[in-house]
Amino acid sequence: MAVVKATINLQALKHNLSQVKKRAPQCKVMSVIKANAYGHGVLPVAKALSESDAYAVARFDEALFLRQQEVQKKIVILGGVYSREDFLVCIDQHFEPVLHTLEQIQCLFDTLQWLGSKGEQKSFDYWLKVDTGMHRLGLSADELNGLSHQYQTLTARFSPSGFMSHFACADEIDNKLNQVQNLKFLQQYESFSKVNNSDKLSLSMANSAAILSLPDAHYDWLRPGIMLYGVSPFAGRTGKDENLLPVMTLSSQLIAIKQLKQGDCIGYGASWCCPKAMTIGVIAIGYGDGYPRHAKAGTPVLIQGAEVPLVGRVSMDMITVDLSPLQAQEKTAQVGDNAILWGDGLPIEYVSHQADTIAYELLCQITPRVSFEYK
Ligand SMILES: Cc1ncc(COP(=O)(O)O)c(C=O)c1O
Repeated sequence: MAVVKATINLQALKHNLSQVKKRAPQCKVMSVIKANAYGHGVLPVAKALSESDAYAVARFDEALFLRQQEVQKKIVILGGVYSREDFLVCIDQHFEPVLHTLEQIQCLFDTLQWLGSKGEQKSFDYWLKVDTGMHRLGLSADELNGLSHQYQTLTARFSPSGFMSHFACADEIDNKLNQVQNLKFLQQYESFSKVNNSDKLSLSMANSAAILSLPDAHYDWLRPGIMLYGVSPFAGRTGKDENLLPVMTLSSQLIAIKQLKQGDCIGYGASWCCPKAMTIGVIAIGYGDGYPRHAKAGTPVLIQGAEVPLVGRVSMDMITVDLSPLQAQEKTAQVGDNAILWGDGLPIEYVSHQADTIAYELLCQITPRVSFEYK
């Protein structure tokens, strides 16, 4: 039996998708399953999320993999594509790339014209991304303006089918940039559609945080990622606070128990020393499995339903925990006991907070040594 296991609860995934829909029943949903579905395994996740209207991935290769595996649904490529060769595959496979630079748009026009010159008049669905204040991807207002006039002279087959942008701070509910970005989005859309008579464009702005806290930004298409996996996008909250269920439970086993004396120091660097005589448990998990090396002393681990704190440094294959909370509950730990690192009964947000990171990173960095089980 595999020692370190990521158990993926597909029913929880479906429940979380239903929570997305409950927040905005009028909207369509593109479920974000990039980066191997945030580390959960993209194929079983895609299957479990079949009630989505589309899937969204970051890269062309991710879209291609899904199609090669017979996933038939609409696939949006959030990072777009850059070459004629890839545009041709997009047209053929009905991928919808998001174009965010003038170079990408020019390459698409060249490709469609090249096809036209061979007598193949293909139309094609794609998204335009505008920069409303995140300053990462997206056309600036000036670039969009210039482009609007170019579109006027082109036929409908060149027009985008969707218009999107991305929030920089939606996870901070009161951040003023949220309203600024939302307003800019509407202004840019209005000026673009006025010039192009394209009031049928689909609009999309909302990631998980905006789905949960910015109903004005729901528009036509939602783009949930982290909330599908049962995690709250907001600092200081957990998935449970948003009515979400954890999808991944990472677990391992207790492989040794040691009685240490006051002053005995534990692990590499001998950096943590027992303040009194203590029972210490050794669990088979480490940064070689994706458990964060920077998790601080005190990070909770669940054994027999009790939270026991991490002590000493995280090493490649092991961590050490103080078992005294179990003794306080008159429970006795035994070698072979199951240990939950996050998931059922232990929100991943507690662990990411203790490791000075975000749950997104913990989920994505599980290594191939961990075996996955789907239920
Ligand atoms: C463009 C875009 N939309 C939506 C998402 C989903 O975001 P979240 O996981 O915060 O819901 C992402 C994720 O990074 C993204 O890049």
